[in-house]
Amino acid sequence: MHVLVTGANGLLGSALVSQLAPHHDVLGLDLPELDITDRASVERAFECAAPDVVIHCAAYTDVDRAESEPDLALLVNGQGAGLVAQCCEARGSHLIHISTDYVFSGEAGHAPFLPTDRPAPINAYGHSKLAGEVAVREHCPAATIVRTCGLYGLRGRSFVAAILSRALAGEPLKVVDDQTVGAPTYAVDLAQALATLASLRPGGIVHLVNAGVCTWYEFAVEVLRAGGLAEHPIEPVPTDQFARPARRPAFSALASGAAHSAGLALRPYAEALHDFIPTWLAEWTRRAR
Ligand SMILES: NC(=O)c1ccc[n+]([C@@H]2O[C@H](COP(=O)([O-])OP(=O)(O)OC[C@H]3O[C@@H](n4cnc5c(N)ncnc54)[C@H](OP(=O)(O)O)[C@@H]3O)[C@@H](O)[C@H]2O)c1
Repeated sequence: MHVLVTGANGLLGSALVSQLAPHHDVLGLDLPELDITDRASVERAFECAAPDVVIHCAAYTDVDRAESEPDLALLVNGQGAGLVAQCCEARGSHLIHISTDYVFSGEAGHAPFLPTDRPAPINAYGHSKLAGEVAVREHCPAATIVRTCGLYGLRGRSFVAAILSRALAGEPLKVVDDQTVGAPTYAVDLAQALATLASLRPGGIVHLVNAGVCTWYEFAVEVLRAGGLAEHPIEPVPTDQFARPARRPAFSALASGAAHSAGLALRPYAEALHDFIPTWLAEWTRRAR
């Protein structure tokens, strides 16, 4: 299978290229070779890759900065996704488009969101990602849209890396305990499920997250435990103690629904963390030398 991965230098794209490369003919592209906001650049990428499947990971992902750059977020996440979708439709490539739990408003007390629930984003990033979903459905109706949450992996910025880095630097931690996420998700687990989806090509919306529900505080406690740092000081605090440009949903757990019945459900988040953290610590130690 010929697979084109956009955003290949990013957190998810890099995990995906590593996952797919031993089994498929994979072309991973990112800025500056591929700019998804430039039609000629996208068309060139399709000519090089002749893809059966495109896994579209490229995105504007800085949730706070998007509040002051909403047009740029919309250009990349909305129009850029639309351009990729148009090329997939024109060339008969199956599109797997990556989206987010932040398309939901996430009032506290909501049941985990199903793929059929109505999105209602509350920040500029969420609006731009929803615009991407709409553009993908309009231009490539057979595409599969995958929503995920709180990614972490060896590359890129993540909550897990931030917690571990600060704890290892001896900084006491304060983490919000009034925002519940389905579960932050290990990029390698998601990459494995995406590899399966690339063969199944189901279409529609699929929710793929590690199993479980936790607050960011509960998740941070598990990160410390898995990193052998259980004694490190950590304090739960309300969101209003952290002034950040973008509002976050109070509750954004995603129910896996059909993904579960299709055998695509990911393992519990604590299990994934306990696998990942030794790798992250080994890399951190190597760099510190
Ligand atoms: N990270 C999360 O917690 C999370 C949660 C839910 C959903 N998602 C979604 O998952 C997908 C992958 O996220 P990620 O965490 O892997 O993001 P990431 O690490 O920021 O990677 C995105 C990549 O896309 C590139 N990019 C930005 N603008 C581009 C453009 N115009 N043309 C081509 N490439 C461009 C970025 O390059 P630069 O770095 O140079 O800008 C970066 O290498 C995204 O759709 C994101 O919305 C992420």
